[in-house]
Amino acid sequence: MKITFRTAADASTPRLVARAAEPDKLPAGLGAAAIEGAAISRFSGKAGQLFESFGERGGRVERLALVGVGADKDDARQAALERAGAALAARYMTSGETALALDAGDLGPREIAAVLTGLVLRAWRYDIHRTRLKAEQKVSLAEVVVIGAPAGTEPAWAEQAAVVEGVKFTRELVAEPPNVIYPETFVERCQERFAGTGATLTVLGEDEMQALGMGALLGVSQGSVRPARMLAIRWDGGAPGDKPTAFIGKGVTFDTGGISIKPAAGMEEMKWDMGGAGAVAGAMLALVKRKAKANLIGVCGLVENMPDGNAQRPGDVVVTMSGQTVEVINTDAEGRLVLCDAMTWAQKEFAPARMIDLATLTGAMVISLGHEHAGIFANDDALADQLLAAGRTSGDKLWRFPLSPAYDKLIDSEIADIKNVGPRWGGSITAAQFLQRFVENGTPWAHLDIAGMAWADKPGAVWGKGATGYGVRLLDRFVRDVLEG
Ligand code: BES
Ligand code: MN
Ligand code: ZN
Repeated sequence: MKITFRTAADASTPRLVARAAEPDKLPAGLGAAAIEGAAISRFSGKAGQLFESFGERGGRVERLALVGVGADKDDARQAALERAGAALAARYMTSGETALALDAGDLGPREIAAVLTGLVLRAWRYDIHRTRLKAEQKVSLAEVVVIGAPAGTEPAWAEQAAVVEGVKFTRELVAEPPNVIYPETFVERCQERFAGTGATLTVLGEDEMQALGMGALLGVSQGSVRPARMLAIRWDGGAPGDKPTAFIGKGVTFDTGGISIKPAAGMEEMKWDMGGAGAVAGAMLALVKRKAKANLIGVCGLVENMPDGNAQRPGDVVVTMSGQTVEVINTDAEGRLVLCDAMTWAQKEFAPARMIDLATLTGAMVISLGHEHAGIFANDDALADQLLAAGRTSGDKLWRFPLSPAYDKLIDSEIADIKNVGPRWGGSITAAQFLQRFVENGTPWAHLDIAGMAWADKPGAVWGKGATGYGVRLLDRFVRDVLEG
């Protein structure tokens, strides 16, 4: 979507004009048809409500879209403005209109940036593999012209645009099929997108991971013909010498379950089992593009989990990079096996001040929280509170779960140090306990189980069906408020 800014409307501005309406207060200067039409259509200016009317101005037909920006109780102003932008996108993206004029009206720079954010995010679709779409199915809306925006709007949008770009990158990685995005191509896409940004990318191949002793991650990858990769994206935007914050993502580019194979129905969904790594890559892109004043590391553990003659077996014991041994009870509990070595490597290599991992880790999390919140587990209350707050302001909501020695005991193994699954009950918690065993020296750590959030079966606030980009705005908000604030 091309976004441009103009001081005033003229004959060349788009015929489709969107104007924001506050609750029960229409913008000034509307014609009688729009005023009366809005009233009899019960248009009240609630966020995301839309009323359309046609009128004539200066001899041209104008298509007027009134969009409500009134926040519900408890709803943040920014979220309401985003919903308004999203409503415009949902209505006009395939309408045949190619451009939309957004009349700034009384909105301020940050408010306009919020409307644009909702609009651009909601208009995102990934159609590159669909070669037979009819004209009326294709996205037509390609440009938004903002008219009469106050000074400061362009820089406000530029900063938001970086975040939007990060969200779109995450969605692209998540939406791509598993024969297109696998460990090597995930890395390649990142190399393309980070080229020239000032970020430093480090990639480990299997031999290097072998030499480092990453037996858990490599055990998962063993059944796949596609070699595993470890990717680190580094951004030094903070004070030199300040310990970095590490984001660590589960990047299982396809999860069949391995020998503990999953049922066929719905297995295609497991292409988005790299949603944690996708969020880390997208968040890093956003932060690098807006030149965040913080030292940051994004680590992605990338593997494919396949059944094969050479695949690991239930019962195998693997040695992790930390030296701890793991009995693999279920090869489908592979995410924790990938993350534990990624966490150990991140701590040894980068000595982070704090560590936040994101993973589509357990089906049990979807049972617990559905598709409204991701679960957060943390060994540090301050870090948990900071992330919970970032979740509320960014819209990427979180809900905290417990950790305790009693849960931890459930993953003691008879033959090794740890087993990779506990009993059925509390499955998300024992998965988090597993990860906690790989936190060194009490490093503040939070684990975000995003299994219910990476993908949506129906359109939401600022996304359509499919990849949501969950996590990018959360991490961006956390960096703004905690590391840069
Ligand atoms: N990637 C899955 C978790 C998942 C399932 C995410 C459904 C989203 C939707 C993970 O690797 C997995 O298979 N977990 C198992 C763990 C079990 C074997 C202890 C699960 O949740 O069933
Ligand atoms: Mn699995
Ligand atoms: Zn998985």
